[in-house]
Amino acid sequence: MTEPAFAAPDAASRPLWLVPQGPDGPVLPDGVDPAWPAATGFAGKPGQVCLLPGDGGLKGALFGVGKPASPADRPARERFTLAKAADALPAGDWHIAGMPEGYDAAHGALGWLFAQYRFDRYKKGEPARARLVCPDGVNADLLIAQAAGEYLARDLINTPASDMGPDALEQAARDLAGRHGATVEVIAGEDLLARNFPMIHTVGRAAAQAPRLIDLRFPGEGPAVTLVGKGVCFDTGGLDIKPASSMALMKKDMGGAANVLGLAETLARLGRAGGLRVLIPAVENAISSNAFRPGDVLTSRKGLTVEVNNTDAEGRLVLADALALAAEEKPSLLVSMATLTGAARVALGPDLPPFFCDDDRVAETICQAGRDNADPVWRMPFWEPYEAMIEPAIADLDNAPGGGFAGAITAALFLRRFTEGAGSYVHFDIYGWQPTAAPGRPKGGVGQGMRAILHALPGLL
Ligand code: BES
Ligand code: MN
Ligand code: ZN
Repeated sequence: MTEPAFAAPDAASRPLWLVPQGPDGPVLPDGVDPAWPAATGFAGKPGQVCLLPGDGGLKGALFGVGKPASPADRPARERFTLAKAADALPAGDWHIAGMPEGYDAAHGALGWLFAQYRFDRYKKGEPARARLVCPDGVNADLLIAQAAGEYLARDLINTPASDMGPDALEQAARDLAGRHGATVEVIAGEDLLARNFPMIHTVGRAAAQAPRLIDLRFPGEGPAVTLVGKGVCFDTGGLDIKPASSMALMKKDMGGAANVLGLAETLARLGRAGGLRVLIPAVENAISSNAFRPGDVLTSRKGLTVEVNNTDAEGRLVLADALALAAEEKPSLLVSMATLTGAARVALGPDLPPFFCDDDRVAETICQAGRDNADPVWRMPFWEPYEAMIEPAIADLDNAPGGGFAGAITAALFLRRFTEGAGSYVHFDIYGWQPTAAPGRPKGGVGQGMRAILHALPGLL
C-alpha cells in the first residue's frame, strides 16, 4: 500500500491561491497582475487552474473555487474539488497561500490526499506528482489516518478475487492486526460447523479456499464497538448464477469487509481503537457439486431456520452468523457494512449508501457526520410492516422474498433478526465502487460511510 503523505511543512514550496469567482471576474490575490489570468481565460470557475510565470520559471498557481452562492458551484454539488489541483499541477510541493473566507481547508486537503491514491499492483502508472503542505490549522494526523483507511479499503476492493480470496483477506486482517497490536482469531472450514457457524460454512463450502470467520480485537480501553463486514470475495450468485453483466464486478463483494478494515486502520492510527472488535465472514460464493441449493433450509447459529430461496442472497446468510456472535457479548454499538443488495443502488444510486438504524438520535448523528465530512449517507427504515415478507411457509426466515419489492429493507430486516442484545444496531448497504472517476475518487474501489461513522462515534457512546 502506498502511504498517504503531505509535503514537509518546511519544504520549499510554491504558492497556490484558491480564487473565487466574483461578479467581475476572479478575485485575485494582491500582487498578481490580472492580465495573465485574463489572457489565459482563467475566471475562477471551480477546478480551473492557472499557472503563474515568474522570474526564471513558475511562480505559483491559481485554483478556481467558483461562486459558492451559485447553485452550480455549491460545494454540495461536487466533493473534493481541490483534488483536481493535485492532478493538474506540475510536480513539486505546494502550499495554500490564500483562500476565501469560509473555505474548508481540511476538506480540500483530504481530497488532495485521496487524489494521490494509485492502484499499481499490476501496472506501474504515473505516481502522484504534486504534494501539498498541510494547511495551517488543519490536523494532518487526522487526515493522514483517514486517507490511510481509504487507501486500504480501495486496495482491498481493487484487488481481483484471484489475489483477494478468503486466504488473502485473512492475511490483510492479520497484517492490520500486526501493525496495531490487535489479536486475530480465525475459525475456518469444518471448524465453522464444530463452533456453530453453519451458514458461513454453507455459503462458502463450494469454494477452493475454505470459508472462515475472522475476528479481530484491539487492545486498550474504550467503548464496546463491533464492526461486521461482508467478506464475499467473489459472488457468482451460486447455483442461482448471476448473468455475466451482473457478475463482472463481483470482486468488490468484500467491500463491506474492506470498509470496516479501513475504518479500523483509521481508528487505530488515531489511538481510538481501544475496545474495538471487527468480524469478517470471508467466503467465496462459488459453484460446485457441494454448493448449497435453492430450497435448502439452514439452521443458523442463533437457531432461526432459513429457507434459501436464492443462493445469490448469500451476504445476509454469512452476516447473520457473524452478527449473532457479535450480539452475544452485547456491544454498545454494532455496525454492519455490506455490498448487500442491488435494490439499494436502484433506490439511491452508487454514491449515496443507505443505512438503517432504529435510534433517531444515532441516525441523525451519523447523517450529520456524513454531511460534515463529505461522506454522505441516507437513512432508510427498518419498516416493520415488511417483516411478513421475510417469513416463508416452512422456516423462520426467507433469504430472498419473492417479488423483490423493498429489497434493501427486507435484507436489513433479515439482519436485524440476529442482533438482539446489541445496544444500537446500524447497517450500511454500500456499493463500494466509484463507477466513473470524480475528484479524489478514481474509478474503482471506494470507501463509503467510514468517515460518517468515524466522526459520529464520539457522539454515540
Ligand atoms: N452482492 C450482491 C448485491 C450487489 C449487486 C451489490 C450488485 C452491489 C452491486 C448480493 O449478494 C446479491 O446478489 N443480492 C441479490 C439479492 C436478491 C437475490 C434477493 C440482489 O440484490 O439482486
Ligand atoms: Mn449475491
Ligand atoms: Zn453478494
